Amino acid sequence: MRARLVAGNWKMHGSLAANARLLDALKAGLEQAEGLGYAVCAPFPYLAQVSQALSGSRIAWGAQNVSEHDSGAYTGEVSGAMLKEFGCRFAIVGHSERRGLYGEGDSTVAAKFVAARRAGLMPILCIGETLEQRERGETENVVSRQLDAVLAAAEIAALADAVLAYEPVWAIGTGRNATPQQAQDVHAFIRARLGASDRALAANVTILYGGSVKPNNAPELFAMPDVDGGLIGGASLAAKDFIAICAAARR
Ligand code: PGA
Repeated sequence: MRARLVAGNWKMHGSLAANARLLDALKAGLEQAEGLGYAVCAPFPYLAQVSQALSGSRIAWGAQNVSEHDSGAYTGEVSGAMLKEFGCRFAIVGHSERRGLYGEGDSTVAAKFVAARRAGLMPILCIGETLEQRERGETENVVSRQLDAVLAAAEIAALADAVLAYEPVWAIGTGRNATPQQAQDVHAFIRARLGASDRALAANVTILYGGSVKPNNAPELFAMPDVDGGLIGGASLAAKDFIAICAAARR
């Protein structure tokens, strides 16, 4: 069975005190479930706190970004090796906020994907279309282009140690989630596209849905056959909501 995952993306939220409360509640509330993993992706300064709080727990952690470089004169950047030292398992790459607000193009995202793997991290590669692109009927072209950029920089086999996240930009932080069928259609398309190169890998790759996942819509979204869990923004900051979303991902 494919591995399922629910990962929280805290974005630029948190404080030492608030994180401590959230992490305590998650440790107490997230139950062991066959084939289901949990993770939180915290801001860089809190990774030491998160690693200390979650070591030995069933919850993994990761970063929200990683440099495409291994070291050097890159002021303000953080390398994969540094993240690894803090026990990160994951690094989100290509989140639409990085693409849209910080100008990360497909080739930068691909280089970050490769750098994360080089450091032994599992990239969570985000892909997804804007509302205008969806309305123009370009969803499949856009996710294909975003995937192809990564496949041009890494072998398809690299995706065996990665997680994909389909995040329609119009659903992120808007309260407007994709319908379960809209999510399923794109997830199935992504899997089929990978399957054209490597069937077994495509069948096993974890594809998360992200964009306004909440406790009330998670059960329907996660019931779709090609939706293997979620990347959760806003609702990952409230322990009760995140725990309920995780419970919806159990099989
Ligand atoms: P949201 O964010 O759940 O707040 O829509 C999802 C994401 O950006 O990963």
